[in-house]
Parts: sequence; C-alpha cells; structure tokens
Amino acid sequence: MMYVTRREHFSSSHRLFNPTWSDERNHEVFGKCNNAAGHGHNYYVEITVAGDIDPATGYVVDLKKLKQVIIERVISRVDHRNLNVDVDFLHDVIPTSENIAVGIWRQLVDHIPQGRLYQVRLYETEKNFVDYRGEE
Ligand code: NI
Repeated sequence: MMYVTRREHFSSSHRLFNPTWSDERNHEVFGKCNNAAGHGHNYYVEITVAGDIDPATGYVVDLKKLKQVIIERVISRVDHRNLNVDVDFLHDVIPTSENIAVGIWRQLVDHIPQGRLYQVRLYETEKNFVDYRGEE
C-alpha cells in the first residue's frame, strides 16, 4: 500500500464555547480560546490518500486533481472565514481541531479522485495537531 499526501494552508478565526454552559464554565474549560471576539490560527492540513500504484501513470492519485478537490471542497470554504458562523459543515459543532478534522474528512471522503482517503492531519499550531482516519 502506498500513501500520498497533499499539504494545504488556511487562516481562520474561531471561538471555543459551549452554548449550553455558563460564561464562567466556558471560561474555566476553554480559557483564552473562549475570548468573545474570537482569535485566529494559521492552519495546515495534510490529506493522505492510500492506494496501489496505477501502472498506467505510476501514480496512486494525480496530485493536481487531489489539490483541486481540497481547494474546492475545503480551503475555499474555510480560508479567511469565521469557523463558528461561516462554514456550513461546522454549524453543529464546537470548532476545535478535532471537529474541524472530522468535517474536512466528510467533505473529502466521497470525492477522492483515485485511491481512498486514509487520513486528515490538521495542525492548529506548530506544536498541536490531530489525526483523523474515519470511524475505524
Ligand atoms: Ni483557537
């Protein structure tokens, strides 16, 4: 099995809070990330596709086509947006890295040009990242 990865970047704002909790509880749990006016991150997302090498092309997946899908279905919808209000596929969740990665997975899983989606890795900062591999 071969694994091929495309890395993309987006900048977004968000605020972490649970609307069913008091302000006090939200502050306790989310701290600075609960700041009412939000805050921004420079996110990096790495999309990994698994598959066999196609003998006709030598590719697992054409990275130009994979890039187009990622840009159209994910980056164009989250870049320079407020993840709490602007992004339809995040409407029902707190926009943590975990939930954003699941949302990105769902946007891509049925649209991979060749091979299958193996992993979504999302970096919120240089030091913090999450990996999602679907409902294994
Ligand atoms: Ni944050």
